[in-house]
Order: sequence, then C-alpha cells, then structure tokens
Amino acid sequence: MNEYILAIESSCDDTSAAVLRGTTVLSNVIANQEVHRQYGGVIPELASRAHQQNIIPVVDAALKQANIQKKQINAIAFTRGPGLLGSLLVGTSFSKAFALAMNIPMIEVNHTNGHVLALFAKDEETVRTPSFPFLCLTVSGGHTQIMKVNDYFDMEIIGKTIDDAAGEAFDKTAKIMGLPYPGGPVIDKLAKEGNADRFHFSKPHIPGYDYSFSGLKTSFLYFLRDNLKNDVNFIDNNKADLCASIQKEIIDTLMNKLVKAAKDTGIRQVAIAGGVSANSSLQKAMLDAGARYHWDVFIPKFKFSTDNAAMIGVAGYLKYLRGEFASQDLTPYARTSSKEL
Ligand code: KG4
Ligand code: ZN
Repeated sequence: MNEYILAIESSCDDTSAAVLRGTTVLSNVIANQEVHRQYGGVIPELASRAHQQNIIPVVDAALKQANIQKKQINAIAFTRGPGLLGSLLVGTSFSKAFALAMNIPMIEVNHTNGHVLALFAKDEETVRTPSFPFLCLTVSGGHTQIMKVNDYFDMEIIGKTIDDAAGEAFDKTAKIMGLPYPGGPVIDKLAKEGNADRFHFSKPHIPGYDYSFSGLKTSFLYFLRDNLKNDVNFIDNNKADLCASIQKEIIDTLMNKLVKAAKDTGIRQVAIAGGVSANSSLQKAMLDAGARYHWDVFIPKFKFSTDNAAMIGVAGYLKYLRGEFASQDLTPYARTSSKEL
C-alpha cells in the first residue's frame, strides 16, 4: 500500500494528473479546457494542443499538492484509450518519457475501466466499496453500458447504447436549446426549478438491456420546432420544464434497464459511474431504487465521477499489484475492443 503512482488522464478535453499512495488519492488536479465552449463541443485538434500546454504544469501541481518528489514515484499510469487519438497521444508520450527518465514501469489503463474503478478511490474519508459481482451503469459522454463487474478487470458488458451515449443525449438536447457545452450539468441545474411531467417525448423500445438515445434527440428537436412556430420564445419561456422533462426521460430510460438487469441477475449491489453519474436526478433515482428493491447503492464522489486522473491511478495501482506493465512501443487506441478491457 506504500507505492506511489502518478496517473495521467488526457482522453478528451480535460488534462488531469493525480498522485496516489495505493488507492488513496493524495492529489487530483484537473485543467478543464475552456477553448471548446465557444464551439459547443470538443474540437479534437484544439484539445490535443491544450493538453500539450497543460500537461507539465498539471503534473507539477499534482506532485506539489501531494507533497511528493518525482523520484518517489514507483510507476506511472495513463489512459491508453478509448478517446481522441491526438489527446491520448499527449498523455501516452508524456508517460513514456517520464517512465524512461525515471526508470520506472508504466501502466496502461482503459478509460471506461477507470470510471468503474473510481468507486474504489479513497481520499481522507474511507469509502464503502462494492463487493464482486456488482452491476455498474457506466454513463459518460462516450459510453452507456450496464456492466456485470466480476472482478477489477473482469467486466462483462450486458447492455449498451446502440447509438448515442446518455451524456451525448444531455449535451445534444442542451445544444438544441442553445445552452452551453457541456449541457449535462446545465440541464441538471435548470431542471431543479422545472416540472418534469410537463412534456413527454418518444421512448425507445429496444430489446434486452440495450439503450438508444438518438430518437429522443430527434423527437425533442421536432417538438421544439413545432412549438417555436406558435411562440418564438417557447424555449426561453419553458426552459426549466423542458430541462426537467428531458432529464426525466433520459433517467427513466437508464433506470428501467438497470432495474431489469438487477432483477434478472439477482445482483443487489448496484453502482453508477462516469460523468453522468454526477446527475442529481440519477443519484436520487438510484437511492429510490435502492430503497425499493433492497439494493446496496454505490455512487462515486463528484470529483471522481467526471474525467479525472485519480480513477486512472486506482486502476493503475491495481494493475501494478498484478505486475501488468506496458511496453514503450505501445500506441493509444481510439475505440475499445473487448480484448483491451
Ligand atoms: O466521464 P465524462 O467526464 O467524460 C467522458 O468520458 O465522456 O462525462 C462527460 C459527460 C458529458 O456528456 C456531460 O454533459 C455529462 O457527463 N455530465 C452530466 C452531469 N455532469 C457531467 N450529465 C448530466 N448531469 C450532470 N450533472
Ligand atoms: Zn470519461
């Protein structure tokens, strides 16, 4: 438990570095890239350039905050994929150079794995951690999956989105309403003042535990287009109710399949992970379902739910214990194949 891990996350638009002792997070520094805001989405080329500018100061800050010297680090863990290739290259190249210079091993981490393993991150408080097997609804800007987690690195995907991710559904509907990127937290906030039962949009009928969110986005777009014909201020006049209603549709859809998966598998330890797990309505729905179906519910702390290097460090440390080290000639991958999980 006394090994120090430096962890790097650079898969999308946040540059993050963390220092951990075992699974205890000593620092977790995140530089959010503001440059994308004006475009309403992440511009890959700008993201990789911003990572290049941020990576050294962010690592420096993480070491300083943890009060750890570079030479005390036992291994460096980094996100190999999935994500934007140009962004991943920055973290991967930095990690290779650091490993070479300090003569320490490097550890590759799958980003989605990292989101799930964030449930095991400790800080000054001890955390309640799930025991295996547990179900995890992993919901982010790029993923929507129900996983049966048999062990730290044995995650079976039993359901997934066939098109958009839940985070994308938040971001795209927010964009249609003219709200800033990323839309998820903005909708979450505005929805608190709104009536979630005011508007209804078409629900997808997808078999099994799979999801689909692209129809919801289209139905929302047509609904607004029709209503804007009669009232040009329809969005502004109904913003809170629109946010609350669209959020309810997304969360209901997510929860219906998760409840079904828990019933069918008989697993009662149920967790959420990924950026959308920060959503207050999803968290409430999880706690309600927990009370109703006698689940043990696990929700990562906010700072470990959206993209962060601490989660990569937890996964890295667990791989360190298994002696799973990466070689200097590896390259990042944009998409995950089951082999890489
Ligand atoms: O995990 P994450 O930081 O990055 C990816 O791996 O994609 O997730 C980002 C996603 C975005 O779509 C963002 O809108 C969403 O998480 N998100 C939220 C909330 N906070 C972040 N969605 C709904 N409610 C929130 N409070
Ligand atoms: Zn993520």
